[in-house]
Amino acid sequence: MRLGGGEKRLEAQRAKGKLTVWERIDYFFDADTFEEVGGFIQHRSTNFGLEKNRPPGDGVVTGFGLVNGRLVYIAAQDFTVSGGSLGEMHGRKIAKIMDMAIDNGAPMVTLNDSGGARIQEGIGSLCGYGEIFFRNTKASGVIPQISVIMGPCAGGAVYSPGITDFVAMVADTSYMFITGPEVIKTVTGEEVTKDTLGGGDVHLKRSGVATYVGEDDETTLAWVKLLLSYLPSNNEEAPDRFGAREPRVDKAELDHVVPSNPNKGYDVHEVIERLVDAGTYFELQDKFAPNITIGFARLDGISIGVVGNNPRHLAGCLDVDASAKAARFVRFCDAFNIPLLTLVDVPGFLPGTDQEYNGIIRHGAKLLYAYAEATVPKLTVVMRKSYGGAYICMCSKHLGADMVVAWPGSEIAVMGPKGAVNIIFRKEIMAAEDQDGRAKELECEYTDKFANPQLAASMGYIDNVIEPSETRAVVIKYLKSHINKRQITPRRKHGNIPL
Ligand code: HXC
Repeated sequence: MRLGGGEKRLEAQRAKGKLTVWERIDYFFDADTFEEVGGFIQHRSTNFGLEKNRPPGDGVVTGFGLVNGRLVYIAAQDFTVSGGSLGEMHGRKIAKIMDMAIDNGAPMVTLNDSGGARIQEGIGSLCGYGEIFFRNTKASGVIPQISVIMGPCAGGAVYSPGITDFVAMVADTSYMFITGPEVIKTVTGEEVTKDTLGGGDVHLKRSGVATYVGEDDETTLAWVKLLLSYLPSNNEEAPDRFGAREPRVDKAELDHVVPSNPNKGYDVHEVIERLVDAGTYFELQDKFAPNITIGFARLDGISIGVVGNNPRHLAGCLDVDASAKAARFVRFCDAFNIPLLTLVDVPGFLPGTDQEYNGIIRHGAKLLYAYAEATVPKLTVVMRKSYGGAYICMCSKHLGADMVVAWPGSEIAVMGPKGAVNIIFRKEIMAAEDQDGRAKELECEYTDKFANPQLAASMGYIDNVIEPSETRAVVIKYLKSHINKRQITPRRKHGNIPL
């Protein structure tokens, strides 16, 4: 049964730097825990001579086993059997194992390595994909779904990963695209390779499709195992709790990480690693829209989702990609009972025609919506700037944050001093003898009024003003006191998030 398409094809698979399907399964699951389902299933097509070759399993291994002691379901395509192509029975096997994962409340992982729809089976193949997409959608928000692209994934086949929560790819040996280089050349005249069209780098940095790209099969599967450790098995459970670990870096240093000059950049990772349990920050999509960071971490052993503006890139502005990236993450955390910690230092939404034409209104609305809709514990730390719509958007009290703290130098205002003064005192500045001097004076006045969190705190929109070095202890206290939070929302079929 483990011979797939035969020794020669298995060797060809290894020669490409890929593991075979069974090597992947053995690596992924705890030793001796994997149970295959449907290993004898064969296709039943007689088109184009297919009846002469009916390998058991039909090119996909399905089953379940334990990953670090927890139940996980898998469908792993075998490229050595008909190029891993998906026909009627191959599709049915995947659909069946997905049903089992949903019914038993355990994560579903797919290892994609396939030439796509099995051309000879026609509608049987298309039906197979349709059944899978249907279940991907049904399972969304019920069990975590992870796609691992370990070879070709082309045409409509990309839409299963497209629906799932996380997409891991393997560098150099995997690619994803709707239409391949040949078709593109014919239709548009563009010349691209598989890699420059849909390789790991493209999807990690440009399209935002990939959550992670590993250097080889093992690294990528190890990443998936680690990811699973932050997640519950289903939407009715909480993630496993681990032992607490003090941050590796001295948290007292936090008092000096954020420059007091609001125009100076810094890296929010420096803050995160001083807040969360040592070695637990697990970043996602790190190379896409780096002006916002998203990732899991643990605080006192409890899984949390961390969203942070990163002033190192685009001054931490929210743009189209950052908004969509963070919104999807917030919704994942909310669906799976993972509390949210939001670290705010945001000068606003990124201005410009590029952003407006690309729909910053629609995309920014996603993040507002996602935060407002989330009912998990929502804790917010305002580190420095928090201006305008972006202030509201970054999990402010007004969107239902449970606890909001601010560091002493925080500025919460409609906009920064320069822009504000130019608008509200334009006539006065124009009339002044020393226009620059008067503008500076007015900027100082504005800064005195708004360059601190007192006004917001006096109105109850900030719960506490704390020193940066106190943040870990305070946030842990808040997290523990909100861990059993329950919030009933009005009955409805579903909302209509701006997509
Ligand atoms: C049937 C297929 C197949 C397919 C590969 N094979 N893809 N058989 N249907 N879609 C078979 C090959 O005939 C070959 O069989 C074996 O798998 C290995 O394929 P090779 O071409 O020898 O491998 P390689 O050179 O590594 O090239 C891999 C490949 C190429 C780039 C993936 O096979 C390819 O371009 N395949 C077609 C891709 C495609 O256009 N798929 C349809 C996409 S549209 P033998 O017996 O000779 O070894 C789609 C619609 C889905 O998927 C719609 C869902 C909504």
